[in-house]
Amino acid sequence: MYRIGIIGCGKIAQVRHIPEYLANPDTEITALYDLNTGRARSLADSLNASACTSVDELLDADLDAVSVCTSNDSHAEITIRALKKGLDVLCEKPMATRLEDAKAMAEAARESGKVLMIGQNQRLNGTHVRARELIMRGEIGKVLSFQTVFAHGGPETWSVDPGRNTWFFDRKKAVMGAMADLGIHKTDLIRFLLDDDVAGVSACLATLDKKGADGTPIAVDDNAFVIYRMKSGVIGTMKASWTNYGEEDNSTLIFGQDGVMKIFASPEHSIEIVKASGERDYYDVEKIQTNDSQTSSGVIDAFVRSLKARRAEISADDVLKSMEAVFAAIRSSEERREVEL
Ligand SMILES: NC(=O)c1ccc[n+]([C@@H]2O[C@H](COP(=O)([O-])OP(=O)(O)OC[C@H]3O[C@@H](n4cnc5c(N)ncnc54)[C@H](O)[C@@H]3O)[C@@H](O)[C@H]2O)c1
Repeated sequence: MYRIGIIGCGKIAQVRHIPEYLANPDTEITALYDLNTGRARSLADSLNASACTSVDELLDADLDAVSVCTSNDSHAEITIRALKKGLDVLCEKPMATRLEDAKAMAEAARESGKVLMIGQNQRLNGTHVRARELIMRGEIGKVLSFQTVFAHGGPETWSVDPGRNTWFFDRKKAVMGAMADLGIHKTDLIRFLLDDDVAGVSACLATLDKKGADGTPIAVDDNAFVIYRMKSGVIGTMKASWTNYGEEDNSTLIFGQDGVMKIFASPEHSIEIVKASGERDYYDVEKIQTNDSQTSSGVIDAFVRSLKARRAEISADDVLKSMEAVFAAIRSSEERREVEL
């Protein structure tokens, strides 16, 4: 039985980490900590676990592993401290807010010999796993281009502390906006689906609509429009948006020489392949989690498998490559030019 500590007891801990640990027969939630100590206390009471009043107190508890579910600004610091204490870590995305911090996390995992997994859960979705297999076995022929989107109405209704005061809009705590919040998912997913890496990035990040509590535009991007040039020569677009007022869009289209693969692009089928001949194939695998409908993401089961195998299924070194593309996109937008990786 792995003894688990949870740092950050907000929405993602409550709707994903805690229920998925409770559903896993090999884990026991032992201790919780949140800056909001009342929040940690009431969750701890309901789970028959201990509520801690500092990160240090939690890291000193008798634990095997921790989930880091805090706001973006503290992921790197808490993760590195936990690894140095000899604990395995599952850290939420975005891995870190500076490239050097992400590198330091990967280095701390190597030096400590502990498992560090990053919560890039889109790779674990059964539909994405099937899509990758279909692409790899040539169902749409040689891939030429892609179009991937992650867009919803914004995090201010999602956070456990909802409203325009949300930390997601605070440059100190979030550091980056939609690009890092949603764009990291799709950047990582494209690398996974195509088994490819980003070679060059052209991006335009903007704050089109979101306002903070004082009524002025937020200091992080609410939209990111990105062109990725992959090492293989494939070129595609990625849109990450917090201003999709209406239906959430989590779709990916892959265009090959023999047809088009549409992933989460229709309500009826999780994958639809339209062949160049006009023939259509459908695969109904698994739905994607949305802000309004949480299904099991599989992230905790993958973490537990990683603990048993002593090797992260979604490793820091791998996600570091996705983070490099995200930071390159931010630089591209600031400098108004393509950035090569
Ligand atoms: N994998 C995914 O799809 C996914 C989805 C949503 C959020 N997330 C990530 O999870 C993290 C948390 O997001 P959320 O949606 O739960 O936000 P949230 O606002 O609902 O909750 C954040 C919680 O963390 C606590 N906190 C912040 N800094 C802390 C610190 N230094 N120490 C202890 N507690 C601290 C806050 O008090 C709050 O309770 C973010 O980094 C976010 O990007 C991932």
